[in-house]
Amino acid sequence: MGTDESMKSSSTDRMAHILLVEDEADVRDSLKAQLEGEGHEVVDTELGMDALALAETSKFDIVLTDVMLPDINGLELVQRLNRLPHKPIVVVMTGYGSVEMAVKAIKAGAFEFLQKPFSVDVLSAMVASALRVKALHEENQELRKTVKGQFSMGRLISSSQVMNEVFRLVECVAETDSTVLILGESGTGKELIAQTIHFNSLRRKGNLIPVNCGAIPEALLESELFGHEKGAFTGAIASRVGRFELAAGGTIFLDEIGDLSPPLQVKLLRVLQERTFERVGGTRTYKTDARVIAATNQDLENLVTAKQFREDLYYRLNVVPVIVPPLRQRVEDIPLLIQHFIDQFNDRRGAELAGVTPEAMNVLCEYSWPGNVRELGNIVERIAILKRRGVIEVADLPEKIRQQSGQTLPNIPAAIPVAGLDLSRAVEEFENRLILEALERTNWVKSKAARLLQINRTTLIEKLKKKSLAEVVAQRAGSPEEAVDA
Ligand SMILES: Nc1ncnc2c1ncn2[C@@H]1O[C@H](COP(=O)(O)OP(=O)(O)OP(=O)(O)O)[C@@H](O)[C@H]1O
Ligand SMILES: [Mg+2]
Repeated sequence: MGTDESMKSSSTDRMAHILLVEDEADVRDSLKAQLEGEGHEVVDTELGMDALALAETSKFDIVLTDVMLPDINGLELVQRLNRLPHKPIVVVMTGYGSVEMAVKAIKAGAFEFLQKPFSVDVLSAMVASALRVKALHEENQELRKTVKGQFSMGRLISSSQVMNEVFRLVECVAETDSTVLILGESGTGKELIAQTIHFNSLRRKGNLIPVNCGAIPEALLESELFGHEKGAFTGAIASRVGRFELAAGGTIFLDEIGDLSPPLQVKLLRVLQERTFERVGGTRTYKTDARVIAATNQDLENLVTAKQFREDLYYRLNVVPVIVPPLRQRVEDIPLLIQHFIDQFNDRRGAELAGVTPEAMNVLCEYSWPGNVRELGNIVERIAILKRRGVIEVADLPEKIRQQSGQTLPNIPAAIPVAGLDLSRAVEEFENRLILEALERTNWVKSKAARLLQINRTTLIEKLKKKSLAEVVAQRAGSPEEAVDA
């Protein structure tokens, strides 16, 4: 009895806008009277189609419907109500009392079913719990909207005004089929933006095919892009599909477009103008519908002036330019990105970093970030590996970052803290730091770093292995010099 009372009182807490669908006039009238008596606003109808029309034009919190309707099947009504933008909570009334019908109703998307005949209290309790669920749904949707609007677009994170303008442009352009040219310094997030455009476009079900025009040898690039026929050149033992063909119905992402050779610039221009190409060594002309997104960190206008990049191609690509500002021009993004990377590397590297001290945050915000977001991510990753837990302090930051803000203190505790000190951990941290610093100063060339530390190269490699740093060093090793060293 006590529970009945509490259910009843909670049902009157909030007034609901209810649509009642019932073909039997006396049942309809009595339900309506009861619900109105509890303070709800009720619209009633006897036909399913009328109910749909009503639900399309005004917002209902709850639709209470019979499964047996004169015109359409009640289950179909449930399904169609669930497809509405402001979908109401649907409660189904079944006269049969058959479990089967109830299961079908729930499967069709109903929130609950009521078996006729039901008491006044059962109805009140049902309305109350439906309203609670509705409120929760709405709260969740609001949350998702704010998170999306303020901080992210897919995997892109930012809180700065300049980036939010970029996000808006990305959102608008995603819906079109326009060619997009993404310009920005290295590590600013150009590839991530290309992905965001593709996955927010109507082509998201098609492929996103990346081609790094700067990394593929010129002799191979044409065949990579357009494919080749068997026997087109020595080694072409079978015909091969190119990336433009793979991107059919999707997007091709031409990265480092500034590195494209003059002959290939001509071929790409033709693709953009006529949407056609031939495979290397072939005569058949292929049509392509692939959307083109290009990116570069070079100043394309300068390349055009220097006659290294065709002006006509530049204009064909530059339909919608998306300019990604360097990180130093959006300092507000730094704390947010640091938190993002801390979460990511805590997860990936099993670290437990808790945050950044205000002093360290100042140093990080003052730094010029020539490597932009990528550099920031690398630094947080390095700290996650070395420090593993606690708060990031100035002393944890790489030398070059501290230097820029004049903070070059070595990380030796001035005195043993009152609480004491874990000697082996402190010594190990100090050693790690020196090794990392040596590697950074020598561009990750292990032999040079070893010389700087006055140890053997093999000793250094042993230490790296022990500290599970070998993997990080391999990732950083980008220069050809390093390849020789490895
Ligand atoms: N706004 C952002 N939010 C979250 N992560 C980002 C953001 N911008 C960049 N990143 C991350 O930084 C790294 C570098 O980004 P990306 O590869 O897209 O840069 P890029 O401009 O293509 O660089 P490059 O010119 O060197 O190829 C990636 O790991 C990416 O996920
Ligand atoms: Mg890139």
